Amino acid sequence: MLMELKVIFLLKTKAEVFKRRVKWILIADSTKTLSDKIPMNRVTVFNVDGYAICIGKNKNGLFAAKNKCPHEGYSFKGGWCTDDNKFVCPVHRYGFDVLTGRGGGTYVNIYKIEERESGVFVGIEFTSLF
Ligand code: FES
Repeated sequence: MLMELKVIFLLKTKAEVFKRRVKWILIADSTKTLSDKIPMNRVTVFNVDGYAICIGKNKNGLFAAKNKCPHEGYSFKGGWCTDDNKFVCPVHRYGFDVLTGRGGGTYVNIYKIEERESGVFVGIEFTSLF
């Protein structure tokens, strides 16, 4: 198996070997239901299907991120939003852009939110060999 992986790496570039995939997780029946659970300019943590997802609401709408601050790994629970479209980790107050995830010299994974007929889904991206 290890030898096969080495051969794959030799023949293909990293981008050709690893594929970006998205796992869509149902998080609410509707955008309104989800929005009603989150106070304006705050972030709330949802635990769904084994994933801890941080969802926030600001003047531009809802956003979702991985619930693990890249600074020291704490939860964003209790965090808040700023007027410059960032959300703030409550532990050391690093701010992260809600669109790019950048902030504090690092970044947090931002997830897509999609409303479909069957409900509201959060798309968690991951890298896979297959
Ligand atoms: S753990 Fe989030 S800013 Fe330090």
